[in-house]
Parts: sequence; structure tokens; C-alpha cells
Amino acid sequence: MNIIASAPEGLEKYLAKEIADLGGSKINTYKRSVSFKCDYATFYRVHFFSRIAFRFYREVASFPCYNKQSLYDGVRDSFEWLKWLPSYKTFNVQVTGRTSNLSHTHFTALEVKNSITDLQKSAWNKRSNISLDNPDFIIHLHLNNNKAVLSLQSSFESLHKRGYRPAVGDAPLKENLAAGLLKMTQWNGTKPLIDIMCGSGTLLIEGVNQSLEVPLNTNKVYLFENWLDFNKKIYLDERYKAKNKSITYKKLAPIIGCEINRKVFEQAEVNISLAGLENYIELINDDFSKLKIKLSEGLIVCNPPYGKKLGNENQLIFLYEEMGNFLKTNFSGWEFWLLSGNPKLTKYLKMKSSLKIPVSNGGIDCRWIKYLIR
Ligand SMILES: C[S@@+](CC[C@H](N)C(=O)[O-])C[C@H]1O[C@@H](n2cnc3c(N)ncnc32)[C@H](O)[C@@H]1O
Repeated sequence: MNIIASAPEGLEKYLAKEIADLGGSKINTYKRSVSFKCDYATFYRVHFFSRIAFRFYREVASFPCYNKQSLYDGVRDSFEWLKWLPSYKTFNVQVTGRTSNLSHTHFTALEVKNSITDLQKSAWNKRSNISLDNPDFIIHLHLNNNKAVLSLQSSFESLHKRGYRPAVGDAPLKENLAAGLLKMTQWNGTKPLIDIMCGSGTLLIEGVNQSLEVPLNTNKVYLFENWLDFNKKIYLDERYKAKNKSITYKKLAPIIGCEINRKVFEQAEVNISLAGLENYIELINDDFSKLKIKLSEGLIVCNPPYGKKLGNENQLIFLYEEMGNFLKTNFSGWEFWLLSGNPKLTKYLKMKSSLKIPVSNGGIDCRWIKYLIR
């Protein structure tokens, strides 16, 4: 299979490494996506173990596409719709990209839909219904440089929704971004980990899950189960292996989250318990400046308010100054990783960074910044 995986911007090469470790081959990295080849077993496996991918798309056809007519004909002729898509199955079409003559994605999607349903009607006098919220198939068309690529989307929901987080605080990180950020720190559970403003607990939960290699999304219903060549035996086998993977509930170093807001703290408690990690993560409901920690050197992470989504810049200057002083006074020798969405505020830490990695957090251009606290 030829697969495209989508990823948060900045995490593409970490997704490529995940895919390689899980058995993918011929991997190429693009902006916000990674392409690869794989067999059925690997395809099913990546759904359970990729922590960074949003979605997977299977390329099924491509054709030159200049205008409405070549789009209509290309869709009809490039794939065996009548074998794959019976009229009792529903679908919808999603479009990205454009060509000079096809620049309205809504119009382009309608044309793809017409091409497929006209073909069905001419063969059977019946056609599939369109479903936006519960489709059997999602057909994805990407247009670029007068070329169209048709793919089938493998899951309705984005895979970053792991199911452990019904409760979110303000401005939560997406789970796959949090997992990628933790990967970049190379934290592996052997040193203490503290999130001094943990919000709904995402960084800590993803960090622990990744160190324990906990499988994800094994109870989701996938769109690929509707595909003509869905291999149920291999799928069930991979799912069984994932679910029964003896999670080595190894002992991890202390993991602590601190959150000032009582309501958000309680949401973090719910999330950690739903993720089954209450024995791993200790939560403290306080201002980080009150933390008294007596542990050997480890890692501190923080996704503070940036003044864009939350808080007002002037009020936040004090918070960043306080954070810088607190870290320098109490955590000399520790590593500190800050997700900065506002360079003006970050300056108030008055600390010298040793690494800055660009990432996008929900469209905000951020830097994941490493400091060695002295
Ligand atoms: C951007 S959110 C963190 C979101 C978190 N990464 C998540 O995924 O849910 C920042 C959090 O810092 C908390 N916070 C702000 N000031 C704090 C302080 N002085 N001590 C501890 N927590 C604080 C806020 O209540 C908020 O929940």
C-alpha cells in the first residue's frame, strides 16, 4: 500500500522515524505529512502505535487533472469504484490543494461526488448516499500541479483523540503534539519529570504512555474495515498483539504535575485516571512557585499561557520572570523545556537556551526550547 500520514508541523521527521520503527519503507517527509509503503500488517499496526500521526490516507489512484472534465473523467476511470463502493455504503469527499481551473474545494468535491454517483447510477440505477457525520468511506482528493491524487481516509476521527481526555483545561495541547514534544526531549522514564503548569495533564500522560509503549486506539472502528481488500484476519491478529502486548509496567522515575486552577486540576485527575496512570503521575494543586521538590536532577517541561489564547501579555510578564527565578533558584542542573508561543514573553525568563525547535501548536508558530538550568 502507498500511504500518506499527516502530522503537526515540525514533527514530520519524528513521525518518519516512528513509521520506520513500525515497519514502513520508502519513507519520504513533506511539510505536515510523511509518505511510505507498507504491507497490511504494518498498515494496521501504525494505527495502534503511531503517537504522532493525525490520520492515514491510502493512495488509490492518480491522474492528470486540468479542469472540470478531466477531473470528472479521471475520477470515473482511475479506480474500480463499482467493486469498492456498493450503493448501500455512504461516503463523502474532501479536497485539498487546487489547480488553475479548479480552485473552489467545495465545487471540486461536488464534481468528484457526481462522477462516482453517476457511474453507480449508470451501472445499477442506484447510488450511494452522502454522509458527513457517519460515512463508510471518506474519499480524499489532492490537487497539485495539474495532477490529482485520490486517497481513502482510514479513520473518521483524528487519531490524536485517544479517548482518555473528555476533560480539557484551557488551551490544551493535542495529544500527538504532546507525544512528539516529549519524544524530542528523549525522556525515557529513568529521570524525574515535572510539568509545572500541567493543565489537563497531556504532556505527562503522553510521556508515560510512550515510555511504557502503551498501544493506542485499539477500540476504534476504522473506515478501512469497509475497504474491499480489508484483511480481517491480519487486522485482528495485529489488534490482538497490540492489546495483549505485555505492557512492561516498569517502575518509572517520579512524575509530577502542578496546576494552579482547581477545576483544571480536577480535570487532569480524571484524564490521568481514564488513562490508567494514577500510579505513575502525582498531581499537585498549587502555584508552581510553592513547589518543594527534593529529587535527583531530571526534566521540567512547561506549556505556559502565551498571551494569545490565554491571559494578557502584561500580566504574563510577571509569570515568566517568576518562572525564570524559581527554576534558577531551585533546579540547578535540571533540563527545562518550554513551549514558547511568544518570544517577547520568553525573554523575561532571563535564561540562555541551548536548542530551539520550531513547531506549530494549533496554528500558533511556537518554539520548543531547551535550557540547561544553572
Ligand atoms: C496552556 S495551559 C497548559 C495546557 C496543558 N499543556 C494541556 O495540555 O492541557 C497553561 C496552564 O498553566 C496553568 N497555570 C498558570 N499559572 C500557573 C501557576 N502559577 N502555577 C501553576 N499552574 C499555572 C493554567 O491554569 C493553565 O491550565
